[in-house]
Amino acid sequence: MKSIRNITLAGLALAVLGLTGCERLPMETKQIGYRGTGMEQVINPRTQAEVDKANVLPVALDPAPAGGPLAKNIYKNVQVLGDLTEGQFNRLMVAMTLWVAPEQGCAYCHNVQNFADDSLYTKIVARRMTQMTQSINAKWQAHVGETGVTCYTCHRGQNLPSKRWFTEPDAQMAGRLLGYDAGQNRAGVEANANASLPYDPYTPYLLQDKEIRVNGSTALPTGNRQSIKQTEWTYALMMHMSQGLGVNCTYCHNTRAVAEWSQSPPQRVTAWHGIRMVREINNEYIVGLTPVHPPNRLGPTGDISKVNCATCHQGVNKPLGGKSMIKDHPELSGGRLTSLVKTPVASAQ
Ligand code: HEC
Ligand code: HEC
Ligand code: HEC
Ligand code: HEC
Repeated sequence: MKSIRNITLAGLALAVLGLTGCERLPMETKQIGYRGTGMEQVINPRTQAEVDKANVLPVALDPAPAGGPLAKNIYKNVQVLGDLTEGQFNRLMVAMTLWVAPEQGCAYCHNVQNFADDSLYTKIVARRMTQMTQSINAKWQAHVGETGVTCYTCHRGQNLPSKRWFTEPDAQMAGRLLGYDAGQNRAGVEANANASLPYDPYTPYLLQDKEIRVNGSTALPTGNRQSIKQTEWTYALMMHMSQGLGVNCTYCHNTRAVAEWSQSPPQRVTAWHGIRMVREINNEYIVGLTPVHPPNRLGPTGDISKVNCATCHQGVNKPLGGKSMIKDHPELSGGRLTSLVKTPVASAQ
C-alpha cells in the first residue's frame, strides 16, 4: 500500500515537473480571420517585453560626408564595394565591425598591417556575405519587402548568428544503441519544437528542394505519391517555421483546409517565397564557402552551418519587429533603393 502511495506521489511530482515546461496562463488571443474559423494568434503577454528588448536596433551611424574619391581608386583590393565613396566605405567598415565583430574589431577580418591582404578567411566570408545581403535585398523583395536585411539581422553583434543549422549525421550509421531511427524520435530537438517528428527537416527542404506536401492531388490512391513519411517531414518543417516566427499554424493556414491557397492568409505566400529564398542563400552563397573555413567551424558531416527561418526571424513574425535598417545602409540594398534614398540618412529612432 505504502509503495503504491509512493509511486503515486512520485508520479504527481513528475507531473508537476512536466507542467513547469508549459507557459503560465492566462494567454491572450487575437482574432485574425473570420469568426468561428479558429483563426487566431496566441500571445503570452509576459514574454512580450523580452521579445521587444531583443529586437531593439543598434544606434545608426552618422551619414557619411558627401563627395570624396571612390574606394576603387584609393584602395588596392576592393572587389564588391568599389563604387562607394571613401566616406561611405569606411562607414560601412565601422558598421560591419559593430554588427559582426564588436569585440575583436577590424582585426577580426583584417591583417591590420595590410588591409588589402586577403589572408584571413573571415574577410573572404564577409565579402561573399556582402554580395549575399545585396542579393537578398534586391532580388527577394517578395519576401523581405521594404524592410530588407543587413548583417545585423542575422548576426546581432556576434561572429556567428545564434540560429544556424548543420546536417545531422545519418542516424543509420551513427552506431545508435537502438539501431536505425528513421531520422526521428530524438528528445530535445529545437528543429521540430521537441516533437518526435524528424529532427532534420532542413536538409531536404531548405537545402534540397524536396516537395513540401501532404495532401494528394488526385482522388484515387493511384498516382497519389504522398506518404505518411512525407507528412511527418512536412510537419517537422512547419513546426520549425511556426517556432522560428513565434506564430501558430493559423498565421499561414486556415486549418479547415490546410493545403488550400485561396483560403490561406497572405503570409503563407510570403513564407513560400521565404523557403525559396533560404534555399538560394544556402546553395548559392553559403555552401561554396565551406573550403575556406577552419575545421572547428564545420559540423559533424564536414558541412558549413546554414540559414533557416530562425536565423533572421529569431522568434518574431518580422525580424527586428519589422524595423528597417536598410534605409540607413543603401549600399547593402543591391541598388533597389538608390532611387528612393540618395544619401544615407540618420535613423529616425
Ligand atoms: C566582418 C569583416 C570586416 C571587418 C570587421 C572589417 N572589414 Fe574592412 N574589409 C572587409 C572586406 C570584405 C573588404 C573587401 C571589400 C571588397 O572587396 O569590396 C574590406 C576592405 C577594407 C579596406 C580596403 C583595403 C584595400 O586596400 O583593399 C579597408 C581600408 C578596410 N577594409 C578597413 C577596415 C577598418 C578600418 C575596419 C575596422 C573599423 C574594418 N575594415 C573592419 C571586411 C571587414
Ligand atoms: C541571412 C543571414 C546572414 C546575413 C544577412 C549575414 N550573415 Fe554572416 N553568417 C551567416 C551564417 C549562417 C554564418 C555561418 C556560416 C559560416 O560559418 O560562414 C555566417 C558567418 C559569417 C562570418 C564567419 C564568422 C566566423 O567566425 O567564422 C563572417 C565574417 C560573416 N558572416 C560576416 C557577415 C557580414 C559582414 C555580413 C553583412 C554584409 C553578413 N555576414 C550577413 C548568416 C548571415
Ligand atoms: C509562416 C507560414 C506558415 C506557418 C506558420 C505554417 N505553415 Fe504550413 N505551409 C506553409 C507554406 C508556405 C506551405 C507550402 C510550402 C511549399 O509548397 O513549398 C505549407 C504547407 C503545409 C502543408 C502541406 C499542404 C499540402 O499541400 O499538402 C501542411 C499539412 C501544413 N503546411 C501544415 C502546417 C501546420 C500543422 C503548421 C503548424 C505547426 C503550419 N503548417 C505552419 C506556411 C506555413
Ligand atoms: C534573410 C532573412 C530572412 C530569412 C532567412 C527569412 N525571412 Fe521571413 N522575413 C524577413 C523580413 C525582413 C521580413 C519582413 C518583410 C516586411 O516587412 O514586409 C519577413 C517577413 C516574413 C513573413 C511575413 C510576416 C508578416 O507578419 O507579414 C513571413 C510569413 C515570413 N517572413 C516567413 C519566413 C519563413 C517561413 C522563413 C523560412 C523558410 C523565413 N521567413 C526566412 C527576412 C527573412
